[in-house]
Amino acid sequence: MNKRIKISFKGSGDILLPKIVNENHKYLKMDGRFYRMYYLYDFPQDITPFYFSDFLNLNSNIVIRQFIQPIDKKALLQGIKMRIASLSAKRHRRLSAGKIRDMSLDVEISNLEDFNLSIINQEEEGMVFGIVIAISEDSLSALNTSCKNFELFTASRSFKFYPLDLRHAEGFKSLLHSAYSNISLPTIINLKTVAASTPFTSNNLIDFTGIIYGINVNTKSIISFDIFKFENYNAVVFAKSGAGKSFFAKTVILRMISKGIKTIVIDPEGEYVKLAKNLNNTGSGSSGSRSKVLKLSHDSMFHINPFDLTKNENVEEKIQFLKGFLKRACSYYDKNEIDRALIRIYKDCKTPTFVDLYNILLKSKARMADEIFNIAKGTNASLYSQKTNIKISKDDDLIVFDISSLDNENISLMMYLVLNFIWNMHDGKTQREIFIDEAHRLFENVDLINYLKTISKRARKYNFGIFYITQDVEDFISTEQGRSIIANTSLKVLLKQEKINLAGLSRSFSLSSDEKDSLLKFDVGEALIIAKDIHINSKIFAFDFEKEFFQ
Ligand SMILES: Nc1ncnc2c1ncn2[C@@H]1O[C@H](COP(=O)(O)OP(=O)(O)OP(=O)(O)O)[C@@H](O)[C@H]1O
Ligand SMILES: [Mg+2]
Repeated sequence: MNKRIKISFKGSGDILLPKIVNENHKYLKMDGRFYRMYYLYDFPQDITPFYFSDFLNLNSNIVIRQFIQPIDKKALLQGIKMRIASLSAKRHRRLSAGKIRDMSLDVEISNLEDFNLSIINQEEEGMVFGIVIAISEDSLSALNTSCKNFELFTASRSFKFYPLDLRHAEGFKSLLHSAYSNISLPTIINLKTVAASTPFTSNNLIDFTGIIYGINVNTKSIISFDIFKFENYNAVVFAKSGAGKSFFAKTVILRMISKGIKTIVIDPEGEYVKLAKNLNNTGSGSSGSRSKVLKLSHDSMFHINPFDLTKNENVEEKIQFLKGFLKRACSYYDKNEIDRALIRIYKDCKTPTFVDLYNILLKSKARMADEIFNIAKGTNASLYSQKTNIKISKDDDLIVFDISSLDNENISLMMYLVLNFIWNMHDGKTQREIFIDEAHRLFENVDLINYLKTISKRARKYNFGIFYITQDVEDFISTEQGRSIIANTSLKVLLKQEKINLAGLSRSFSLSSDEKDSLLKFDVGEALIIAKDIHINSKIFAFDFEKEFFQ
């Protein structure tokens, strides 16, 4: 039965609050909204910094009030003494009754003794500690669902929160800015735990030495970190078309550059050209950023020779790469003919090209000669049979490989070639992030996918990070190689998704049902950012001065 109650407060609380509420023993109803209050009864022994911060990332309308009150030292020592005495008596009774030793009693007594000593030595202080939480929703059924999620969440972290059934009005008063709890606070904690529980900042995704990735929509705090401090520097950015993937990548590129990280984009849509051009116009010499656009097309002046061997690659690796390239490029493929010819070419020629391979195959009357005519001497020779005339310098802040004029047949081949070129140009020291937009285009052939898997694993060793940006999530989550690439990323950014991909995403990223719902409803620029296993509901944004570079 609901009953109408009147809440009265001393002082200004009266003015600020709704006077008439409906209270049921399980909830409070005010202004058409339903509230349920909880209080903290117990929590795990070992609280580390940010342990509490996950509460803020719960997808519920949640108000949290934390109470910390100093306690008189004498009374505290007395209390500890009594508690030790009571636990010791309990232990003694158990042993006298012939029961097995309860280790948890021993641990608690030992902790209390340590606490006692640290207070006497003035290394620690005791604080009365409590948390009152209110969850609110527009309907009773939504409230029940949110509360159930909250209870499952807290139980999974060994927190004991009890609902304030029959006492919701008291709980509500405790949430006001009066700094007094109307609920008695059952817990005493030491200062270390106070430090770990306060403040309720967003978790360890705030590292001011890093760059800003977005705003935590629950706490309104920024999300910033240095990906080069993570265990690898790779990321996936998944979303349906138009959700804001490239916008996000552009903000990250600008911010990375400001931190001295070198960036490279493989750009199948020509979306980053403006950014590179504008960036280059900001200045020259040491104060400005150096960026360049390398357009690779049939009539381009820039070329990469797939046969180039740098000091970072041995002949076997190069041959492996070329085999993958030819398998993708040719409709017929004879592995023995190619194997023989490639081994020979690296013995005979210093800087071979496809023309040399063609001549060798022709001489031995191999059928593959005809197959590679197109790339050696035919219409695609302008793309793949030229000597390399570009290089990547450690001074280049941003290089955009613009391959947007290529036809579908050549896009993935060129992406593969560019990636191999970048890879072999590394100096092992410079921090470099490679952004592969429309990365699903590389998933056209098993050799290409295997190549991605290999470099994803090895990138860290050479100070490389790779951002895979794609709308084709399925390619990643449904293949063994794709899953391995995901496993080798420290950062996952999920913007709005297609419903069809939700189940797979959920398996790959351990998504909660709320997160799955959000991924379908997100507006442009809203994202779930997952880093270091922390899931954060986020908003991607660009400052006005940043937008000027790419919009
Ligand atoms: N965080 C954001 N804030 C404001 N506008 C945004 C944001 N993200 C994206 N937009 C705008 O939404 C549009 C689509 O964004 P974007 O091109 O980044 O999407 P996309 O996911 O890369 O799409 P596609 O799959 O077609 O490449 C652009 O006009 C962009 O300016
Ligand atoms: Mg895009």
